Order: sequence, then C-alpha cells, then structure tokens
Amino acid sequence: MSNITIRDIHVINTKPASCNLTVVKVETSEPELYGLGCATFTYRYKAVTSVIEDYYRELLAGRDVADIEDLWNLMHTNSYWRNGPVINNAISGIDMALWDIKGKMAGMPLYELLGGKSREGVAVYAHADGKTKEEVLENVCRYQEDGFEYVRVQTGGYGGIPKRLHKPHNSKGGVYYSPIQYFNETVELLDYIRTKAGNEIQLIHDVHERLEPIDGVRLAKALEPYRLFFLEDLLPPEQGEWYRMVRSQTCTPLAIGELFTDFKEYDYLVRERLIDFVRCHISALGGITPAGKLSAMAEMCGIRTAWHGPMDVSPVGHAANIQLDMHIHNFGIQEWSFPDRHEVLKEMFPGMPECRKGYVYTNKKPGLGIDIDEKLAAKYPCDDSVTEWTQTRVMDGTCHCP
Ligand code: CO
Repeated sequence: MSNITIRDIHVINTKPASCNLTVVKVETSEPELYGLGCATFTYRYKAVTSVIEDYYRELLAGRDVADIEDLWNLMHTNSYWRNGPVINNAISGIDMALWDIKGKMAGMPLYELLGGKSREGVAVYAHADGKTKEEVLENVCRYQEDGFEYVRVQTGGYGGIPKRLHKPHNSKGGVYYSPIQYFNETVELLDYIRTKAGNEIQLIHDVHERLEPIDGVRLAKALEPYRLFFLEDLLPPEQGEWYRMVRSQTCTPLAIGELFTDFKEYDYLVRERLIDFVRCHISALGGITPAGKLSAMAEMCGIRTAWHGPMDVSPVGHAANIQLDMHIHNFGIQEWSFPDRHEVLKEMFPGMPECRKGYVYTNKKPGLGIDIDEKLAAKYPCDDSVTEWTQTRVMDGTCHCP
C-alpha cells in the first residue's frame, strides 16, 4: 500500500493546433500530487470523455495509485465488452497519469523507473511531402541539412495527388483517389529520391492501406531496390493474413499497426516474424502498460518499435512515447510531428520534449516530465465538425480505407 489514493479524475479537451486533444488529470489524496495522461481520439473525443467522467471516475475513486497493473485490468474488463479506441483511449489517459504519479513518487523520470535509459537521444523521422517529386526532394534535402537521418516521403496527401481525377461520381463528397495512379507515382517518387538523395538517407513511405492486398504485395516488391527503412501500414488490419505472402515475396521492411487497438492483434505477426516494426498509437492500445508488454514481446522476435507520433497525439502522449523510446532496448524509430515548434503547444505544455538535429530529448523531471496550463487550454475549444478526410472513395464512388 502506498496510502496515496485517487481523489478525482477530470478530462481536459482542447484544440490549440490542428487536432482535438484530450488530456486526463488524475488527482490524488496528496494535494500537490497529480498525473497526466493522453486519451486523444481526436474524432470521437466526447465519447472518450464520457467513459472517463461517467464511469472510470467512480470506479477508481479511493483506490491505491500504486496498483497500475491491477487498475488497468479493472478498467479493461469493467464494461464486460472490451478493447476498441474509445475504451482504450479512456484507459490510456488514466494509465499514463498513474505512471506519471509513480514517477513523481519515486523522484524518477519514467525511463529510469522502467529500468533506465538504453540511449542518449531518440532518433526521429520527419515527414517530407510536396506537389511534385522535385518538391519532395527539396524537403528531404532540407531535413538532411538539419541533421535528420530518417525521412518519410510522399507526393501529395495519402493516396497521392488527385491531378488526373475527374471525379465522375463526387456527389457524395469526401476525398477521391486513384489506386493505380498512386501506385505508379510512388514507385517513380522512390526511384527519384533514392537516385538524387543518395544511399545514406533512410527512407520511409506510408501506404495508409490504400491498395488492394495483391497490389500491396506488388508495391512492396517494386520498392525493394530503393532499400526503404520501412514501408508503413501496407494493408488494413482486417487483411493481416496477406503479410505471409508479402514476406515470402520481398525483404522490404514493414511497419504495421497504426490502427490496432489490442496488442494481442500482433500475436502471429510477431511470432512468425512477418513484420519488422510494431507501429501503434499508444493511447489507442490502452497506454504505457500494454505498450511495454508489446515491446517486450517484439524484442523476443527481433522486431523493433516505431510508435505513432502525429499531431493527433497530445504533447503528453509524445512525452510518453519518448520516455518509452529512451528505455526499450528494441527501439527502432520515432515519428515526430514537431509539436515543439508550435508556440501555443509549447506554452500550454511546459516540459515538452525537444527535437535537435534529428534526435528528440526529454527533460530529467520525474514521471512524464510534462505539465499542462489548464487556463490556456480552456481558451482553445474543440472542433465538432464531421471529419472529411476519412470519407475516402475510389473513382466509381466506392467507400475505401482512409
Ligand atoms: Co501511418
């Protein structure tokens, strides 16, 4: 027993930059002691807020803050039906906050509490896009000059540039794209970038599940000569069995799992060595507790980590990513979307990890090492409009994976 208990839990929703962010604050029986966690499910933040405030607040009130493993399992099974991004994000907000509290109680940064650091800084990749392959190359070179060794490349948004698309069936709205155009442009882009930027730079590309499975196999094969660091989310989670075929055809490394909401979804992919990087959104998985188990499971099979790190992760979530990255031996790479270059985010979240010359560094403060200015957060309300970019369609108007 630590004799310190959960006094109250509340949710802070804010949109200081491009995405709705959800941060959870767990307050304890010690007046000055609290923890923060990321529960950001940017497109359904009200549902996550309800799970925390209407159910977990009462479930957890008065319980010992020390028992993270037990409380995680209690939250996981309390609704009987479990998993999914709403429940897991709610759990993550509390789970990360409890780890933050434990770190503060121990007077140690999270990476120290987990067993110490395995490295001096966390290597990150930046994202370079552009309307043309020449523009993408310019951005790649700019990152190289800034010291980045890893860059993700792409023409246009996910699925490429809709320049030849005449949208014959656009009455339903949303985002239209052509899989064949995307396929061809991507092979052309990687050929161009590898030729022009040389062999030193580590290149990454995100398919975002925009191809039919057999075309995914063909793309992984077609890109093999360009020696990618990894190819990201080649297929949707429902089509994981196809990775056996991808593996038998090509050694292009694969980073998989951005949409996974249960670390056990990785079971056969990891055991059969069908992928090279576990790439998930830690809050959608349920927080630091399951992410730690997943990284250990991956380590056993020679597979590395590549946690999701876009702008729909709150700075508290980024801090959790970086703390784990510092510790885990089989760390691979970290996606970085530069929250540290955004003035309002920096002011709202004191202690934000910082990127310098291709590496991100955390401070040495206890726990996650990050705080929130709640008054400032309240000045930036969330956006309730219906999400457009996920309404993806192919040429004949059929709904497709975003
Ligand atoms: Co992705």
